[in-house]
Amino acid sequence: MEKEEFRRHGYEFIDWLADYFEQVEEYPVKSTVKPGEIKGLLSKDPPGTGEPMEKIFNDFKETIIPGITHWQHPGWFAYFPANNSPASVLAELLTAGLGVQSMIWQTSPAAAELEEVVMQWLARMLGLPGTMSGVIQDTASTATLCALLTAREKATGFEANRAGLKQPLRVYASEEGHSSIDKAVKIAGYGIENLRRVPTDERYALVPGELERAVNEDKRQGLEPACVVATVGSTSSAAVDPLKEIGEICNRYNLWFHVDAAYGGTAALLPEKRWALGGVEAADSFVFNPHKWMLTNFDCSAYFVKDEELLTRTFEIHPEYLKTGYDAVVKNYRDWGIQLGRRFRALKLWFVIRSYGIKGLQDVIREHIRLAETFKSWVEEDERFELMAPVDFSLVCFRFKKKGVSEDELNRLNKLLLEKVNGSGRVFLTHTSLNGSYVIRISIGQRTTTEKNVREAWDLIKSFASSL
Ligand SMILES: Cc1ncc(COP(=O)(O)O)c(C=O)c1O
Repeated sequence: MEKEEFRRHGYEFIDWLADYFEQVEEYPVKSTVKPGEIKGLLSKDPPGTGEPMEKIFNDFKETIIPGITHWQHPGWFAYFPANNSPASVLAELLTAGLGVQSMIWQTSPAAAELEEVVMQWLARMLGLPGTMSGVIQDTASTATLCALLTAREKATGFEANRAGLKQPLRVYASEEGHSSIDKAVKIAGYGIENLRRVPTDERYALVPGELERAVNEDKRQGLEPACVVATVGSTSSAAVDPLKEIGEICNRYNLWFHVDAAYGGTAALLPEKRWALGGVEAADSFVFNPHKWMLTNFDCSAYFVKDEELLTRTFEIHPEYLKTGYDAVVKNYRDWGIQLGRRFRALKLWFVIRSYGIKGLQDVIREHIRLAETFKSWVEEDERFELMAPVDFSLVCFRFKKKGVSEDELNRLNKLLLEKVNGSGRVFLTHTSLNGSYVIRISIGQRTTTEKNVREAWDLIKSFASSL
């Protein structure tokens, strides 16, 4: 591609994206294609010779876009958000253009040093202990895997890395902890039978007394407790585990303490929500996802550790071809995680934080929380509905209720209600199960969502509920 052609298409793509951001509301939020439909439209064979960009871009609009579920739609209320922002997208374009692979300091000193600095910024923005060091991982799943691998090495004095795990180690998380913990437990060689799910209270938060009981029971049976994963903002209901009490238990029994704040961590940008991280000083590791709620496009997960030496000792490798004269004085992030090759993700974080400023980010998060509280008040005022979990952040769990109807029937009706609401194409909400009840979640966090969109969701819910 010639320079002028590249320039022309670049302008064209940015124009398209600028219009997309403005017009995304006109698409159905959730793609309406059937399984296999997009595959059926794609050529079975790769082209033998190069095709013109006009044709490729046209196919993108005609073939790919119909199969896109629009995460940046203001009616996005599903799962948790994965929001972005113009600043982030522009930075990502530069990242792609630079094509940097920042495995070690010398493969791009600015990438390594910017990563160190933006992670220090983030730690300060969330009120994390200044002694923690940060590294960007692709996802919270990877960060939690890193935590469990480091916990394993600490518990075995780095013997597991050398000779393999000789005896089982136990991992604890609440019944509401994310499925990435199961995955990490499996991959890190603990074995899924060694993950103990600890009961939760009426707020779906881990009960510290139950954790201690489980640890003692395991010790009595000759098993070795190694690690606890606490959650700030659980996936089903945004529950917050009591970090202070959990930290004290970890301290008493010498357990690795990992905090998964993938979604909820961003709320700590607000002084009024800092309570959620109270006790985080005791954590050995902590993760939150700027790619969820902090306007930084996927993927970008911020992982912090108290003792960076334990982390790097777990992952370090020293092949001759990667040795440089700077190794003693710089951070080589290849040793801070699983993969060798690393994307230059710090750039988009830097762009986002600088273009919004702390105040700008706080305004966005505070507004999402206000919208969730508004939605919560509507649910509370309507006797046909009930709240199913406390609302601390921007997630509301609720359901339709009906007198004299069995739990099974209520589950069926709520499932039907959700299908009808999502069938409108105007909004997309998802569900979960809390104490065996089918619960509808409205998760507010798309950058451009306003009260009008939340009101529209509520009006749709009410109107379909009338026909149930
Ligand atoms: C609490 C929690 N932890 C971890 C994850 C996994 O995040 P990721 O997709 O970054 O691995 C999620 C995803 O929603 C989550 O809600």
